[in-house]
Amino acid sequence: MTALVEPARLGTPFTRPRSRRPDRRRWQDGPTPASLADLVALTREVAAEVSAREAAGHRAVEVDPASRWSRRLHADDHLDVWLVSWVTDQGAELHDHGGSLGALTVIRGALTEWRWTAGAEDDGTCPAEELPARGPGLRRRVLDTGRSAAFGLGHVHDVTNRAVATAVSVHAYSPPLSAMSFYDVGAGVLRRTRSELVAPGQAPA
Ligand SMILES: [Fe+2]
Repeated sequence: MTALVEPARLGTPFTRPRSRRPDRRRWQDGPTPASLADLVALTREVAAEVSAREAAGHRAVEVDPASRWSRRLHADDHLDVWLVSWVTDQGAELHDHGGSLGALTVIRGALTEWRWTAGAEDDGTCPAEELPARGPGLRRRVLDTGRSAAFGLGHVHDVTNRAVATAVSVHAYSPPLSAMSFYDVGAGVLRRTRSELVAPGQAPA
């Protein structure tokens, strides 16, 4: 099967990163020249490409009822891009993304994200799209078809398909995932349970 994305085209935004402050190199602001906005835009672009290919009759997505299916669409020194399918109740446990920034766009179906928010009780500032859930510090939001989410450094979440329909999403990480930590929450406290190295080409959690 041919690659869904052309490495040269995906690499373009990252070889000459845009900056609002041209006197400062973007590398000084984080671990990658890509911004969260860059990653969101990229996942939206790839999601549109996957949808167009499927509309044209090409099979781009597979489904595995036993475990979450994923395929890496692109990898370079700065970036990896994954296509993921989720049947009902398939998901990832509470985790971070090590030193990587990330983003996702939902191609079809819906994903439910539980996001850690520093343990605070709901103070009335919770956005309407997010609901306090599962005790202090965790908030839930549903990412419907076409929605995107960005993951800055320190973003701790789990993502699960709670719907009947299979969900499909595109994920991008920059730099490529190299380590992840996993967490439990109890009594409003976030506790790291373990950390794991992520080998090149290993599917993200
Ligand atoms: Fe994640």
